[in-house]
Amino acid sequence: MKCRIDNSNCNEFLNFGRMPIANGFCSKKDFNREYFFDLKVAFNKKLSLFQLVKFPNPKKMFNKSYPFYTSSSFYMVNHFKKLSNFIKKNYMNKNSILFEIGSNDGTFLKNFNKKKVYGFEPSKSVHLKAKKEGINSINKFFNSKNIKILRKLYGKVDVIFGANVFCHIPNQRDLIKSIDLMLSPNGTIIFEEPYLGSMYEKTSYDQIYDEHIYMFSINSIIKIYDLFGFELIDAIPQNTHGGSMRYILKRKNISKKSKRVKKLIKLEKIKKIDKFSACLSFKKKVIKSRLNLRKRILNIKKKGFQICGYGATSKSTTILNFCKINNNMINCIFDTTKDKIGKFTPGTHIPILNYNKFKGSHYKYVFLFAWNHRKEIMKKEKARKNTKWFTHLD
Ligand code: SAH
Ligand code: TYD
Repeated sequence: MKCRIDNSNCNEFLNFGRMPIANGFCSKKDFNREYFFDLKVAFNKKLSLFQLVKFPNPKKMFNKSYPFYTSSSFYMVNHFKKLSNFIKKNYMNKNSILFEIGSNDGTFLKNFNKKKVYGFEPSKSVHLKAKKEGINSINKFFNSKNIKILRKLYGKVDVIFGANVFCHIPNQRDLIKSIDLMLSPNGTIIFEEPYLGSMYEKTSYDQIYDEHIYMFSINSIIKIYDLFGFELIDAIPQNTHGGSMRYILKRKNISKKSKRVKKLIKLEKIKKIDKFSACLSFKKKVIKSRLNLRKRILNIKKKGFQICGYGATSKSTTILNFCKINNNMINCIFDTTKDKIGKFTPGTHIPILNYNKFKGSHYKYVFLFAWNHRKEIMKKEKARKNTKWFTHLD
């Protein structure tokens, strides 16, 4: 296959099989009409870029029923509050305008003067929640066509921000060209995305699903943005979503690179994160992880125990479908999200139950699908004794 950014060659190296829409939690009536695609990954040596081979049309994923709400985690609400203070202090003045791509339910933008911030959010479910909070949420995809409605702001926005969304956008050329049009000469691009290095370290292959078209690393970001006249001036590792990276970029030659980013670039080279060989060793670990997980679940079932899941994450769709885990192996998954409760997991049809019912439930073995929120969840569940929590990563 060819890389969508510069048309250079990509090496395909791992196939997860048929996969449904990761956030496509469905009702019984939808069981026969679910959409499936082949989830395969490839690596582009020239840009050091890890990417999906195929993916569904974004409109199939981001629409009126998109069920992921940023505010479903207190930890993330707090993270975005701290991040807004960091941005205000370092990259904005009181007149600055900020744009958020993928502003979801407005959790991040709530922390700013609402007259000075705008969000692009194509999923109506979450857009409406932001609107209720008084956020300037524009119910559209951020792209060169849709930004035309804000033409008077071209070249005037001081910060363009996104979290867990840059990697969702297939056309990176259009994305960066659109940013270039909006951003002031001295403006800053700031985004946080799941980090390839963390995925390799943990073998957290569940980060790979339809929405995550790219899995970025520092080296890949440097190479991509170099094509458009931007340079990476800082990168800050984050522990959110199982290991992320915050990238800070400006137009070339206006700011010095931080010492931290120079160190991180070296570290990536030492760990060979920019090389195809890292993909091959990741592949070996993924296959082993699937075997181990299936063995573990079947052993628990042999002992006569039943298993439930905690957190109907989009990540769980990859684990369940790839490892062929169905509702005979995991009875149900408890979750707090109104839009997911009463529905079933995509492809594997495990029922999603209201989290309120977890407290009185008998389950001794709990698969923590929301492992990235472990700290927050363990604090909440400390009264629950004798529970054996596990994940595919242990
Ligand atoms: N930023 C939030 C939400 C991440 S989920 C957070 O970190 O919690 C990704 C969000 O990006 C979804 O709400 C989705 O609808 C939105 N999105 C996807 N593609 C987009 C695009 N091209 N432009 C703007 N938003 C997009
Ligand atoms: P998350 O891991 O944030 O994202 P993704 O879907 O991208 O993998 O999803 C968290 C899910 O877990 C979400 O459906 C809400 C649920 N959840 C709970 O049920 N209880 C909790 O305490 C937390 C933090 C999340």
